[in-house]
Amino acid sequence: MKYTALPKELYIENRKKFIANLKPGSIAIFNSNDEMPFSGDQTYRFRQNSDLLWLSGIDQELSTLIIFPDAPLPQYREILFLRKTNEKIAVWEGHKYTVEEARAQSGIQTILWNEEFQQVMTILMNHCKCVYLNLNENDRCSWYVPYRDLRFAEEWKKKYPAHEYERCGPIMAQLRSVKSKIEIEAMRIACDITRKTFERVLRFTRPGVMEYEIEAEIIHEFIRNRATGHAYNPIIASGKNACVLHYNDNNQECKDGEVILLDFGAEYANYAADLTRSIPVSGKFTKRQREVYDAVLRVKRAASKMLVPGNYIEKYHAEVGKLMEEELLKLKLISPDDIKNQNPEWPAYKKYFMHGTSHFLGLDVHDIGNRYEPMRAGMVFTCEPGIYIPEEGLGIRIENDILITENGQIDLMADIPIEAEEIEDIMQGVSV
Ligand code: GLY
Ligand code: MN
Ligand code: MN
Repeated sequence: MKYTALPKELYIENRKKFIANLKPGSIAIFNSNDEMPFSGDQTYRFRQNSDLLWLSGIDQELSTLIIFPDAPLPQYREILFLRKTNEKIAVWEGHKYTVEEARAQSGIQTILWNEEFQQVMTILMNHCKCVYLNLNENDRCSWYVPYRDLRFAEEWKKKYPAHEYERCGPIMAQLRSVKSKIEIEAMRIACDITRKTFERVLRFTRPGVMEYEIEAEIIHEFIRNRATGHAYNPIIASGKNACVLHYNDNNQECKDGEVILLDFGAEYANYAADLTRSIPVSGKFTKRQREVYDAVLRVKRAASKMLVPGNYIEKYHAEVGKLMEEELLKLKLISPDDIKNQNPEWPAYKKYFMHGTSHFLGLDVHDIGNRYEPMRAGMVFTCEPGIYIPEEGLGIRIENDILITENGQIDLMADIPIEAEEIEDIMQGVSV
């Protein structure tokens, strides 16, 4: 990997937190992600399962983590099963963890090869009562493609039907949503790479550039700064394209007079940054663009302050909706009558601001966390209001990544240019 691996103390601590949530006599099993087929004999870049990584630091395919705190022998309390390398793998694919390296990375002492899996697991299954299985439980999606943890769960329940079964998902959502210092440091690096990249884009952009040329600048700056790549598909949306929320064709010319919405973030050590900025192609916003820009910025600033321990996401989203309503009235995009006649299920402001303001951020860009529980210190949320006006060919979103603390928020993107003048000055070469 390109990044510097995070210290094993993080993973030792994470496992302690996980173990504290298990029923007595339980074993928990975590599989690495599949190497996903691309086409023909090619695969997509391997992306480690975020839960397995969070508990072990092991960033390698075909790995399995076993946690069995009440195991009959101490060497069975934590086990990593890994792919045993050989000369052929070394020549064709390169280096894989040795036993010593896997120990040093994870803090787990028992490192076994996959060939021993069934033999060891037969013993462990005979001495545990309950099995915690890990599935990709995510409120935002349901995959129709089977994955390694799911195939394993199906196979395991058939093989061992008389055991009690539990889900790792709710525990992982609780734990992963609160970030430790080491994780925040990794996220700061991801944000800093994203900052450098945005500044590069500001200096590069001018009328006539293609959206994909900007995309090329972004990946160049990411990789040279040791990001693994994009944390999600980048959106480079000029003019009316910005009103397509998940636009990523990135194939149009950026024209004088338009605004470009840029939503991109670096992935560093598997942690995501998630930035959105909206910039004028010419280097100068028009009066109308500026009005809309400043409205979004005001909402973003006020919304960020509501990310406090004890607040609830649903309530927060409703409050941000009210702020947005005021701004849209001032911009004359909606009228008092629209509000009077609105459907409470889909208030008038949703015509121009139809998505949520915040999501959890961490190892995944839309990270796991329980959105119906109160916000807690240590959680990181994005804050990303936007106004999309297709009839004006204009979409503006501003997005920063915010860490909640007991004493207010820390904006992990505080040093990324955000004021309209700042952006204009850099684009016009007034400041660098
Ligand atoms: N870039 C994905 C998001 O902002 O949620
Ligand atoms: Mn986001
Ligand atoms: Mn984003």
